[in-house]
Amino acid sequence: MANQGDVLRSWVRTKADQTTREVLKQRLTGTRVLTVTSGKGGVGKSTLVLNVSLALAERGQRIIILDADLGLANINIMLGNEPVYTLWDVVEQRVSLRDILVTGPSGVRIIPGGSGITELARLDAVAIAHIIDAFQELEGECDWLIIDTSAGISDNVLAFVLAADEALVVTNPEPTALADAYGLIKAVWEQDGKVALRLVMNRAQTREQGNRLGTRLSDLAEKALGQSVEFLGLVSDDPVVARSVMRQVPFYAAYPHSEATYDVADLADRLLHRVPPPRRGGWGAFVKRLVENWPREMNQDPI
Ligand SMILES: Nc1ncnc2c1ncn2[C@@H]1O[C@H](COP(=O)(O)OP(=O)(O)OP(=O)(O)O)[C@@H](O)[C@H]1O
Ligand SMILES: [Mg+2]
Repeated sequence: MANQGDVLRSWVRTKADQTTREVLKQRLTGTRVLTVTSGKGGVGKSTLVLNVSLALAERGQRIIILDADLGLANINIMLGNEPVYTLWDVVEQRVSLRDILVTGPSGVRIIPGGSGITELARLDAVAIAHIIDAFQELEGECDWLIIDTSAGISDNVLAFVLAADEALVVTNPEPTALADAYGLIKAVWEQDGKVALRLVMNRAQTREQGNRLGTRLSDLAEKALGQSVEFLGLVSDDPVVARSVMRQVPFYAAYPHSEATYDVADLADRLLHRVPPPRRGGWGAFVKRLVENWPREMNQDPI
């Protein structure tokens, strides 16, 4: 009869095999393009992008973050990096996309978006084809492209959400944040978005509160809009988050035994093990949709 140690060892082996199979399956099916957005500002998007990326990297995933905040490059500030080039230099064809990648902890790489993002809309077809090629070149090197957006329900933010395969809508328990998250979900629904939406409740005061509010918002979207928004999970309100921002080190690395780290690890596991939504053509198709969806007003000549 197998003793307890044998059973445990066999369980660990099965678990490891499952993870390896999962990672291989991901590699075969190409990059997952995930936008992280919120509606209300300051709810924790950039913090989540960075720390979930680290958790996914720890699980064997190769990650590239597109820092697409049109205001400040939040992710690089959080890491204390000062990138020399941004996507703008790629748009201007001064450097290649590979040249602007910044390598962060656990091999996570970051594309500083900067003003290059808004410039996408001004490009002609040849320049757009150049950008699409540049993005596609990196496709085979990463399993996830994770996009950190600006706050608000602007057309720019919506363009990112609608272009991705899937989006995480981040909120916190405050009524204003919940209302703005709902507004964002509604805006996606009104555009007939094909993106799969998932909800994350950040800064939950208790697990009961986080789960209750997350489930309620997800049910409301389903009932009122017929838009399915899975509640993926919560991240506790945890003082280590502010401390790690001050130290410019992600809490996932600096405070491995904190509540927030356990929660983020849980979210990463869920992202990996839930059935992923169908891919919509990888990086190239994502950039093409982004450019197509991008608000055009700035391009148009005055009448
Ligand atoms: N789980 C958490 N517990 C405690 N504090 C948190 C948590 N998540 C985020 N914060 C704090 O909230 C603040 C805002 O976080 P962050 O910059 O990630 O938000 P954001 O949504 O990206 O903001 P913006 O809309 O300006 O881009 C940070 O100072 C961070 O310390
Ligand atoms: Mg941010």
